[in-house]
Amino acid sequence: MKNRTVKVGRNDPCPCGSGLKYKKCCLGKSKPDSDNLKASYAKKYRIRLKQAADIQGIRNAGRLVIDTLDLVESEIRPGIRTDEINTLVHEYTIKHGAIPAPLNYRGFPKSVCVSINEVICHGIPGERVLKDGDIVNVDITSILNKYYADASKTFFVGTPGSNARKIVRVAKKCLTLGMSMVKPGNTIGDIGWAIQKHAESQGCSVVREFVGHGVGFDFHEPPQVPHFGRKGEGIRLIPGMVFTIEPMINLGEKELVILKDNWTAVTQDRSLSAQFEQTILVTDNGFESLTPYD
Ligand code: MF3
Ligand code: CO
Ligand code: CO
Repeated sequence: MKNRTVKVGRNDPCPCGSGLKYKKCCLGKSKPDSDNLKASYAKKYRIRLKQAADIQGIRNAGRLVIDTLDLVESEIRPGIRTDEINTLVHEYTIKHGAIPAPLNYRGFPKSVCVSINEVICHGIPGERVLKDGDIVNVDITSILNKYYADASKTFFVGTPGSNARKIVRVAKKCLTLGMSMVKPGNTIGDIGWAIQKHAESQGCSVVREFVGHGVGFDFHEPPQVPHFGRKGEGIRLIPGMVFTIEPMINLGEKELVILKDNWTAVTQDRSLSAQFEQTILVTDNGFESLTPYD
């Protein structure tokens, strides 16, 4: 067999990309450091780190997701049926060469999740009509050139009441605070800690049963990203990780029940629930949202 190894000189730049000389870096190590870290995250946690081309692919999918959210926002008004939102999302996604990930995912029957008022998540679009004062979360995941991006927003329908304004404000701030914890060296627990602290300081509660998740090559990948927890707990963040942060925040108690359709999650006390979600990349010095909105 032909030897394809290219000889690297002791004083050449190290092939691991560190910027150091080979002799000061990976010379004598079994594998370059970055390869070791990658392999250990894959083996220990089943986390698949993303490379530059993957990141661009997810970013492209993410652009489509937020454009679709903008389209939905422009059409949301009292009187629209939730299955009309489904049609909008489905057709816009297909028109742009992508696939709506929810459709037939584990038996989910529609192309988008639409969750009104006390519905925490996974609402199935149907004949229900949005009415003035409702809040509605629209959660969109698109697959573009095999890459997945996942984001959601909670919208006001018509004029919100004070409870609606409060829960949407708190949930949105929870996402921002969670995102601001994302940088190499921090842990997944730091994200949940920041979210839980804010939600509870406002007298709201954090849903435990659903969590953020790795995303990009698949809809739901490791790791899980809880929206509650303790500082310093959990996996340490490293560049190339891509995951969602998607806190579900209740105005009342944290408990939920699943309706007979086996999908729709509602607050047990029927209090309002709101959610915001973005797909986040860990960079060398912080984070980048691959589904950026503010
Ligand atoms: N988009 C949801 C999430 O943020 C998952 C929806 S699963 C579905 O993870 F089947 F309901 F679409
Ligand atoms: Co989602
Ligand atoms: Co998600």
